[in-house]
Amino acid sequence: MEKQIITAKNNRTFVFRELQADDAQILGDFFVNLSAQTRSRFGPHLLTQEHASLLCSEVGNTNITRFIVENESEIAGYFILDFNLFEHEKKRYHSYGTTLDCNIDPVFAPCIADKYQNSGIASQVMLKIIEFSSNQGLRSLVLMGGTQQSNHLARSFYKKFGFEEYGSFTTEMVNIDMKLNLPGQR
Ligand SMILES: CC(C)(COP(=O)(O)OP(=O)(O)OC[C@H]1O[C@@H](n2cnc3c(N)ncnc32)[C@H](O)[C@@H]1OP(=O)(O)O)[C@@H](O)C(=O)NCCC(=O)NCCS
Repeated sequence: MEKQIITAKNNRTFVFRELQADDAQILGDFFVNLSAQTRSRFGPHLLTQEHASLLCSEVGNTNITRFIVENESEIAGYFILDFNLFEHEKKRYHSYGTTLDCNIDPVFAPCIADKYQNSGIASQVMLKIIEFSSNQGLRSLVLMGGTQQSNHLARSFYKKFGFEEYGSFTTEMVNIDMKLNLPGQR
């Protein structure tokens, strides 16, 4: 995907692009600066400098696409589109009567740095990711691990883009499985 410019609510502009091998330092800074509150909502993998280095060293060699939103000095947002088979998701969706195919129903996870949350960045990115995903012939985007029932901002954010709630499951808390059926797909 080509680099794209996105504009936040305060008219500040950012670059939206795929993660690159030489992004380890800024990605690590982004991870380690996430607050405990954000970490409690977003935990797809370790959020350390070392893990950022590992992820960057793997760029191009996995079936996971990672995107970032950056300004001149830092990463403001990080988005994962993962085409691996997620047995837990597959099993839960099966219980809702839906069969997932990891080639066309990847799992998706977004995270915005604390100081940039609620400034319209992810809303702009979502439009780009939906367009990208539709152009790739994907069928749906499945929320990785669902979203916590108490995460009202995220739930309303996803609904705004057409994600639907399929069911719920309980870990230490109640989580809602949400999926976006992409426009024009089966
Ligand atoms: C969820 C998240 C990705 C959304 O990204 P964002 O850039 O903050 O989202 P935006 O600013 O584009 O949009 C947020 C929307 O939620 C709305 N909102 C804010 N607080 C809200 C609340 N308490 N209840 C409901 N809606 C709320 C805003 O009004 C805005 O909608 P609008 O643009 O139509 O007015 C981001 O906040 C985040 O990373 N949070 C922490 C980690 C997380 O929860 N990740 C998702 C795990 S499933």
